[in-house]
Amino acid sequence: MNQWFHFGPTVALLLTWCFQTTATFKQQGGCYFPEKWEGTWFQSGIRQPVIIESSRISSKGRCLGSEGDKFLVVDDKRACYRCVVIHEKHANVLQYKETYCYGRDSLPSLCSYITGDALLFSMFRENATPVPCPFKAPFTFTYNRGHGECRSPVSNIDSCTEDTKLLLSYQSCPDVPGTESAVEELQCLAAWKEGSSRYLVGKVDHIHALSNEDRYRCFVYEKVSPDAMEDVDYRVAQSGDATCNGLFSATEGSRTMILRKAPSLNKCHFPSWMTNYNHWHSLDYSMTYSFHHRDATLRIGNSTSGTEMKVLCTHVKYASRNESAVVLLTHFTMGCQSGYMCMSFNRRDAHVMEVQIGSQTKRLEDACSATNFNISSQSYVTLVTTTPERRTCPFMGKFEVDSLMRIGRFLHSKPYQQIDSRFFDNYFLKKKQQNVVNFQHRRSKRLDQELDCDSDGFTNLIIGCSSVDTMEFKTDCSSAVSTTTYACHGRWEENGTNYLIVSPINTKLSHLTRRYCFVYREIAPGTIYFSTSSSNCDRNIRPGLSGELIFNITSIGKCIVVSGATRVNAEPHNLGLIYTISIAILIYVQR
Ligand SMILES: *[C@@H]1O[C@H](CO)[C@@H](O)[C@H](O)[C@H]1NC(C)=O
Ligand SMILES: *[C@@H]1O[C@H](CO)[C@@H](O)[C@H](O)[C@H]1NC(C)=O
Repeated sequence: MNQWFHFGPTVALLLTWCFQTTATFKQQGGCYFPEKWEGTWFQSGIRQPVIIESSRISSKGRCLGSEGDKFLVVDDKRACYRCVVIHEKHANVLQYKETYCYGRDSLPSLCSYITGDALLFSMFRENATPVPCPFKAPFTFTYNRGHGECRSPVSNIDSCTEDTKLLLSYQSCPDVPGTESAVEELQCLAAWKEGSSRYLVGKVDHIHALSNEDRYRCFVYEKVSPDAMEDVDYRVAQSGDATCNGLFSATEGSRTMILRKAPSLNKCHFPSWMTNYNHWHSLDYSMTYSFHHRDATLRIGNSTSGTEMKVLCTHVKYASRNESAVVLLTHFTMGCQSGYMCMSFNRRDAHVMEVQIGSQTKRLEDACSATNFNISSQSYVTLVTTTPERRTCPFMGKFEVDSLMRIGRFLHSKPYQQIDSRFFDNYFLKKKQQNVVNFQHRRSKRLDQELDCDSDGFTNLIIGCSSVDTMEFKTDCSSAVSTTTYACHGRWEENGTNYLIVSPINTKLSHLTRRYCFVYREIAPGTIYFSTSSSNCDRNIRPGLSGELIFNITSIGKCIVVSGATRVNAEPHNLGLIYTISIAILIYVQR
């Protein structure tokens, strides 16, 4: 009687009513299949999808009455009656037995024709929401398709990025007929327990699978108890067709498998200076590096392609004394593809790091070989935490911009970019938005003037005067002075070339701003060549000569200190502007 419990009182009442009316056949009453069964189902041998909707099962007809899991169904065309007993094994799996079609009779007497050995039919929900697979990969396994066990070489089961999928790589055993190497992707759709047996229904995809008949498979499995003195974790039997028929135990089936836990690939840790921050982003936010402490994984998200790669630390190849530079042999999983790659992580500042990634290889021993990873020529991915601290800018004072070349779009053209808010802690984002709103309100008048001034270059650069951690690019044009202010973050030097991470702070949009890398070299005291790089700190850029925006600057004086502190350089007509910027900085810093 526990089925009544599921349907709720209304449906129960309705069903009672159905049963009473149809049992006596005074009228053709209606009865309804449970609402949660509604949808499209696959059943082996039936070409069209089976649709369950209100009182109908498309393959059988209309329900006239029910009692518990027994349904009296009338076939529209043949006007004959049968009893169908339906069991819900899982939200995605229904199984039933049924009688032949008979003349009119009551539900109980029709149902009495169902014998114990009647065929059991299975229906699998189409477009079902997958469930996590019951086995946690990686495993090695041996299998038997009826001609002997394929033990050597051993086959493998690998995990996919989603826990609802597994990748089975079958090996071919020369001594066992009927074995062939094949790769199958298993998507788990339902798992349930019946008596002492555990069942799994999944969709198996491989190059020979053309239809649902080839894809849906049923599995019986058992977990081998650890005290069984066997080094076996699971026994699994797989059905030979898209039904659950002929599966009586985990040792009988069209194909049987013995799974053994493979050694974990997670054998080392990412340095703590990295994992102390959960999220790192590339300068343009197209890549996100997130550390998951629960399973000690690094997840690399690519917002352009919408893909995510899971990375495990497998072996430490090199580590500097304080781990500020490490080379790691890593295992990656992307979708159901997996392999190895060599990665170097370099700490540039508390909130800035650079990563080099080698080629993806199938074999562990190939990943860090010279052909796949060359630390001196591999390009860098520059990463910054979500809220990098500000740092004192290099140099201080007023500079004249001698010349300026623009290769890409930068600064005045489009320094801001819409950023996918998925990657941010909501709290942080909200707070930031509030501040930006205040900021915009105060500045709106000034902004209009700025936009009027169609400036294509700037003439002066003021570093560290308004605040030690900002650089202000000033443009003189007829109507007003326009200013673009950048905050300085971490910087480092390599062989006389310096790399500085900056972010624009006079934000016009409500989202976070992207960041830039300034590459510079001091040629003589007070003469500095600059170039900018927007996707990473590009090592091919030669300051003053190549880059997106290239400019040479020479010093024209120190910051003029007005009142002992920091606010300076105020010609009367832009005092107001500097004041607003200072407010903006205050708001920004207080956040
Ligand atoms: C520094 O530059 C020299 C000469 O250009 C080069 O040989 C050397 O490898 C460079 N060192 C680094 C750490 O880049
Ligand atoms: C900066 O100065 C160097 C040396 O005079 C020159 O070759 C280069 O073109 C200058 N850069 C720009 C942007 O004018």
